Amino acid sequence: MVTKQEIQEWIKNNPYATNSKLVKQFGLSKQRASANLIAYRKKKGIKKSVGAFNNENGNGKQKARNIIIKHIYKSGLNSGKILSLPFSKCNIEKQILSEIGKKFSFIGYERDEKVYWKMFKTIQKHKLPIYPMLGDIGYELETAHEDKYNHLILDYCCQLGTIVEDMKSMFQANIVQVGGIVAITLSKRINKLGQSSKVYGEMKRLIKNENDIETIHAFKTFFSKVCGFNYSIEEIFEYHDTCSMALIIIKRLK
Ligand SMILES: C[S@@+](CC[C@H](N)C(=O)[O-])C[C@H]1O[C@@H](n2cnc3c(N)ncnc32)[C@H](O)[C@@H]1O
Repeated sequence: MVTKQEIQEWIKNNPYATNSKLVKQFGLSKQRASANLIAYRKKKGIKKSVGAFNNENGNGKQKARNIIIKHIYKSGLNSGKILSLPFSKCNIEKQILSEIGKKFSFIGYERDEKVYWKMFKTIQKHKLPIYPMLGDIGYELETAHEDKYNHLILDYCCQLGTIVEDMKSMFQANIVQVGGIVAITLSKRINKLGQSSKVYGEMKRLIKNENDIETIHAFKTFFSKVCGFNYSIEEIFEYHDTCSMALIIIKRLK
């Protein structure tokens, strides 16, 4: 009888796996096929499409991209490896390659399956130096070794509470090289802070009214704590995407 490990290995090598393909391949019951697919996706942090990002042409978004590129250029680290979230269009990666130079390569994560395959096609069509990865970038942030990347472009557009643990491990492990930048985009709504996190109580205390000033103050407090003395917050840019957003640029100093 086929083992769980064999099924999981097969799903890994067949990203288009569906319940019916599993039933056909291994003679599984529909229930067992579905349980295996769900377990695999959960482990890898893969999500089904639910209202993917839809404002890649927004004015504020483009200004934010330009600021990220300005900081990468200024850093002097103008070649090497960048970890990013390219979305289907790979906009910032294309812009970096054309404006800073072709000496960069990227590891591009996407956890939404449909968006991942669109991104895969864009990479092939434009022959972009992006190695595509299907799954949650949090896994890489927690496991990458010291100095692995020149820069990180974590264009999440999510709420801070969902990335608290990723941020802690990423800054502790120093996965970005000295002089490199970490760019993070976050929604200014921060009412979903990770309940289990110790940071939660502190952030709650800082944000009484959830207005812009308090939110930015809370971001600054959070990032200066998780970064420690090896990093500095270089710039915070507030913009409007589909909702109110902030771009935070952090640089590794030592
Ligand atoms: C705001 S978009 C990226 C936009 C792109 N960088 C640009 O310049 O247009 C964020 C993308 O990353 C994906 N994403 C968000 N959080 C993620 C995570 N933790 N792991 C993997 N992908 C994620 C989303 O599904 C979405 O497609």
